[in-house]
Amino acid sequence: MSIQMIPDNKASDLIREAIEARNMAYTPYSHFRVGAALLGASGKVYRGCNIENAAYTPCNCAERTAFFKAVSEGETSFLAIAIVGGKEDGPLEFTGPCGVCRQVMMEFCDEEAFRILLAVSPQKWREYSLKELLPQGFGPRNLQ
Ligand code: THU
Repeated sequence: MSIQMIPDNKASDLIREAIEARNMAYTPYSHFRVGAALLGASGKVYRGCNIENAAYTPCNCAERTAFFKAVSEGETSFLAIAIVGGKEDGPLEFTGPCGVCRQVMMEFCDEEAFRILLAVSPQKWREYSLKELLPQGFGPRNLQ
């Protein structure tokens, strides 16, 4: 399978959705706001934001919010995710997904084809495969 970089106009659209999603972040503790926009194979985009909690451990990252929304609506196959993050009073910073979110991606995404866009604006992003961000990952194939 040849690996397709996501076209620039599609990447910019997805990043704009992630920026919109970030507006909903609930972050009274860290004040670090993250937004994600997950592109399903159906073409539908699922937005997610981080949602924190006074008990801390129930905090949910933006990426997992997007994945769990999608899976709960019946979509289990994905092409790309755009992620934007930064302190509430500062500029966007390149924000890599945490290890737990990478593992959730490993459950549903092709390691080489799935594109992960870390963005600081609709014009400026870094693009990675899941394999680059989670080398030697453990996934469903290991249990087949
Ligand atoms: N966070 C995300 O939502 N995604 C990431 O990729 C990194 C971290 C959130 C979790 C928590 O609400 C805040 O950022 C600070 O860790």
